[in-house]
Amino acid sequence: MTAHISVLLQPILTYLTPAEHVIDGTLGAGGHSRALLDAGVGAVLGLDVDPLALELARARLADYGERAIVRQSSYAQMKQAADQVGWQSVDGILLDVGVSSMQLDHPERGFAFMQDGPLDMRFNPQGDRPAAAELVNQWDEHDLADVIYRYGEDHHSRKLARAIVAARPLHTTRELATLIERVTPRRKGDKIHPATRVFQALRIAVNDELAVLEQALTVAMDLLAPGGRLAVISFHSLEDRIVKHSFRLASTDCICPPKTPLCVCGHRASVQVLTRKPIEADEAEVAVNPRSRSAKLRVVEKL
Ligand SMILES: C[S@@+](CC[C@H](N)C(=O)[O-])C[C@H]1O[C@@H](n2cnc3c(N)ncnc32)[C@H](O)[C@@H]1O
Repeated sequence: MTAHISVLLQPILTYLTPAEHVIDGTLGAGGHSRALLDAGVGAVLGLDVDPLALELARARLADYGERAIVRQSSYAQMKQAADQVGWQSVDGILLDVGVSSMQLDHPERGFAFMQDGPLDMRFNPQGDRPAAAELVNQWDEHDLADVIYRYGEDHHSRKLARAIVAARPLHTTRELATLIERVTPRRKGDKIHPATRVFQALRIAVNDELAVLEQALTVAMDLLAPGGRLAVISFHSLEDRIVKHSFRLASTDCICPPKTPLCVCGHRASVQVLTRKPIEADEAEVAVNPRSRSAKLRVVEKL
């Protein structure tokens, strides 16, 4: 199994330390959490929804004793998780959203189209979200096309949805990937595999990722103590757009429509943006960890 390499580790340490209490909302293999604890953070509350990630992270953080608290929770529920450990506010929050190398490397999780496994894709296989098989085999063609277009930004969405509906039932990741390859063959010069966008779209829909992220950003900014920082690493433009807009809104005083003569909204900035442009991995990091190529980090500080 490939060990998950934590992306943008150095910038994360620069922005989130020194700190007493930090929430790592996407614990994964615990790489960022370990580095934060090694850099002197007092205690980390690590959250993940994936039982396997939690098991691995617990083992990898055992040496830190009570400084590393691990809980199964969605990062959207970080306020409740913080309450449970008696933290009213925190100095730092990290969200490193998306799928981990461990999840991709376990074919039975259904995230990887290059390996064969069931059409699952749930971050928490014991949770109440539908597995990808339900979307693929039960959703109507229009809804499927919509998801492929909106979350995969795939312009062949209608053609693909029609082919999927005609080929039902589809049971495995390879069956689906082979169908996609047949309907939209890879052309010379294509940088990504034709199944990439459809798998991304299904994963986002299965886990309701964008809505969860949007909701969590507001909760996270509320939970920060003055001077506390929220750092978000995203991996595709849909996520980054949500982070950028949410940070822009929270860092703006008046949000009345442009021609309103006097402010009536009363909105006040609660954070300042520390990264005017997102921070990206440098060449050296991309060489060691190709997954970091698409990572974008944005950070805000609570006023
Ligand atoms: C990219 S990995 C994080 C890797 C981690 N930063 C490290 O250094 O090892 C993303 C993790 O977020 C988890 N995740 C996805 N959605 C989540 C949610 N709503 N709440 C909590 N964790 C979530 C996934 O299960 C996955 O383990």
